[in-house]
Amino acid sequence: KKVIFSGMQPSGIITLGNYLGALKNWTNLQDEYNCLYCIVDMHAITVRQDPAVLRKNARELMMLYIAAGLDPEKNIIYMQSHVSAHAELAWILNCFTYMGELSRMTQFKDKSQKHSDNINAGLFTYPALMAADILLYQADLVPVGIDQRQHLELTRDIAIRFNNLYGDTFKVPEAYIPKVGAKIMSLQDPTKKMSKSDTDVNASISIIDDTDTIIRKFKRAVTDSETEVRFDEENKPGVSNLMTIYGAITGQTMEQVTNEFAGKGYGDFKVKVGEAVAEELKPLQNRFKELSSDKAYIDGVIKKNAETASYLATKTLRKVQKKVGFPPII
Ligand code: TYM
Repeated sequence: KKVIFSGMQPSGIITLGNYLGALKNWTNLQDEYNCLYCIVDMHAITVRQDPAVLRKNARELMMLYIAAGLDPEKNIIYMQSHVSAHAELAWILNCFTYMGELSRMTQFKDKSQKHSDNINAGLFTYPALMAADILLYQADLVPVGIDQRQHLELTRDIAIRFNNLYGDTFKVPEAYIPKVGAKIMSLQDPTKKMSKSDTDVNASISIIDDTDTIIRKFKRAVTDSETEVRFDEENKPGVSNLMTIYGAITGQTMEQVTNEFAGKGYGDFKVKVGEAVAEELKPLQNRFKELSSDKAYIDGVIKKNAETASYLATKTLRKVQKKVGFPPII
């Protein structure tokens, strides 16, 4: 079976963008592949976090993974910080990653602009840790949204570079990006991606927003001065984003969505999209609530999966340590 690896930062309740770009697809892969889904708390501290909040977010993210349908018996769902091999391999990979490569990363450029008071070394070498995440498990495929493509390219370059120097060590992974939903835009500024760190609450849908909130946010979504529901990302980014969301949820093509709303106004259209989103998220939200009251179950998943992940990660780490010339532990 092929290996799948992906992760999310526990930097707040995830958005509809994270869900449609990543989490929803993950749930479709669990029967066919060996999947690992990480909660990347070590990446999260590249920007300032309140410790109590980070702890809570990490646990809730694990609950959201499970609530979305990831079965912890079939998938390895775990906390990055529980598997020390991530940090150890990241250090080694840092020594095979160039400053020039890291300076070209758009996520680094964006984040260092946003957090100009805290441009730390971790933020800069973030992609080397991400490469370590993926390469430790010899992953074949990495299901992510478009914004992570550049990091994936760098991961491949690092893996190829290392393999060329030391002989075949790492599987060179490929990005696995959904056809529809890989880049969900802000509801208030459809030229920007939807992000959980947006300060405007109307710009993003949290996956635990209730039905009324979801519909209200869609009603307020920025569109354009025309009246026709037509897919045209350049001239009608707002409407196209809503069509993408609707298509990603209903499984319809943009053509089918266009036909469904032919002759209907934006008002009806927005409410329909909001209802579809609310309905899609309802079962997840109910399971999330149930899981919140089952502390022992979540504790069990955290412990067991961390052990399995550690076992797998250590195998690759030992191989790499040997290749670079670290003396064996006698
Ligand atoms: P993060 O936490 O920012 O986002 C998690 C996943 O959600 C996707 N995503 C989106 N998809 C569509 N539309 C959007 N508006 C949108 N916003 C986010 C992201 O592409 C991602 O798939 N660096 C990663 C976390 C990470 C990781 C890894 C991922 C760390 N190590 C190893 C894969 C493999 C990140 O910050 O994702």
